[in-house]
Amino acid sequence: MATPPKTASGRDQAVPRHVAIVMDGNGRWAKRRFMPRVFGHKYGMETVVRVIDDCARRGIEYLTVYAFSSENWKRPDEEVSGLMNLVLVGVSKYLTRLAKDGIRIKVMGDRTVVSEKVRQAWNEAEELTKNNPGLTLTVAFNYGGRWDIVQACKRALADGVAPDALSEDALSRYMALAHAPDPDLFIRTGGEVRVSNFLLWQVAYSEFYFTDCLWPDFDAAEMDKAIAAFASRERRFGGVPAAAPSNEASSA
Ligand code: IPE
Ligand code: IPE
Ligand code: MG
Repeated sequence: MATPPKTASGRDQAVPRHVAIVMDGNGRWAKRRFMPRVFGHKYGMETVVRVIDDCARRGIEYLTVYAFSSENWKRPDEEVSGLMNLVLVGVSKYLTRLAKDGIRIKVMGDRTVVSEKVRQAWNEAEELTKNNPGLTLTVAFNYGGRWDIVQACKRALADGVAPDALSEDALSRYMALAHAPDPDLFIRTGGEVRVSNFLLWQVAYSEFYFTDCLWPDFDAAEMDKAIAAFASRERRFGGVPAAAPSNEASSA
């Protein structure tokens, strides 16, 4: 069989350029092991690091992961503080290695209300990796799709963008993912079939893939399945199916 053509980044054309993931199921994974939910989040963090490596190896250029939603503050204090603490643990354990591997890290979400320590950890991760040429990892933290649309509108207004000048392209430049193309593939683990206020604006034409696999169990074989599903889809963006080879001309 012929090898599929490669893009400049070494990515097969059947592989999405931008993958976004709702990493769900950590709590249930822990519960099945009679462990506290935070134990599941800890394993979930190890999974993200493996998935970053796996995506980079596949030539995926952008990976965007939902780590903490605007709504996750509703969880018990102990779980929220466990998740905040994991940011500090993750940055101190993995930042140097990810930076060395050329990963560029971006964080999106409302950083004004997180603790100074967490803010500093995210700032350090962004600063240290900002010129890296490899995969762009965007971590959605205290992020909500509705927050994103509102913050983009506020910044556009503050910049003096006139109503007539406000177009989809103009507003996109103010969205938190302005540094990336829209996601091609949207994955949600954990069995729920919903968006939970993730990238509302940016998923207009993403392909969705839902799996029962709980996030800590997600691995390269699961990613193979998601990418195979993506490769089997025909993306039409509102157009008509690509024309099949026709013999109209010869039969006319
Ligand atoms: C997703 O896993 C991770 C975060 C929301 C931080 P959950 O904690 O939602 O896991 P389940 O859905 O309760 O199993
Ligand atoms: C979405 O998962 C948020 C993250 C994965 C960070 P949730 O577990 O919070 O979503 P719901 O509550 O099931 O919709
Ligand atoms: Mg959940």
